[in-house]
Amino acid sequence: MKTAICYFSYHHGNTKKVAEAMASAGGVDLIDLRTRQTVQLDEYDCVGLASGIYGFGVHKAVVDFARQYLPAGKPVFFVCTFAGAKGNGTKALREIAVEKGCPVLGEFGCRGFNTFGPFKLFGGSGKGLPSEADLQRAKAFYEGLLQK
Ligand SMILES: Cc1cc2nc3c(=O)[nH]c(=O)nc-3n(C[C@H](O)[C@H](O)[C@H](O)COP(=O)(O)O)c2cc1C
Repeated sequence: MKTAICYFSYHHGNTKKVAEAMASAGGVDLIDLRTRQTVQLDEYDCVGLASGIYGFGVHKAVVDFARQYLPAGKPVFFVCTFAGAKGNGTKALREIAVEKGCPVLGEFGCRGFNTFGPFKLFGGSGKGLPSEADLQRAKAFYEGLLQK
């Protein structure tokens, strides 16, 4: 299976680490949405959309990207990292998947280091996260998708 994981990760690179752990399973192209040039997702069997949670949701750039470039009917999965809880963070992506008839294969989330807002005063929350165990779970999640 050929997979593209399109990620947006700017705070501490937490989401990027998770995307890289998944990519270590093989057959994955990582696409950094902050630096990407043209993207052609048709050639992939499956697309992962990954983002930190910023203000209760994934970054707007990921939502805009999905709206514009996610091919109709393409199987997708979602990845997010967050400080506290992902809540309904991927709701906007789920809505786009429904609109485009893209089957949602699953969603992986874990906590990440955060120094946003008041947390900065205390040296941040979730120091050292995602942990090695989180990254192994991320890889196992992706390998599980390959079985589907
Ligand atoms: C501007 C901003 C807003 C954030 N809002 C939330 C939030 O609403 N809920 C939450 O759990 N974490 C929030 N966080 C923490 C990030 O989700 C967390 O640090 C994440 O792992 C960052 O991913 P990144 O390093 O890949 O950018 C926020 C961080 C920033 C910088």
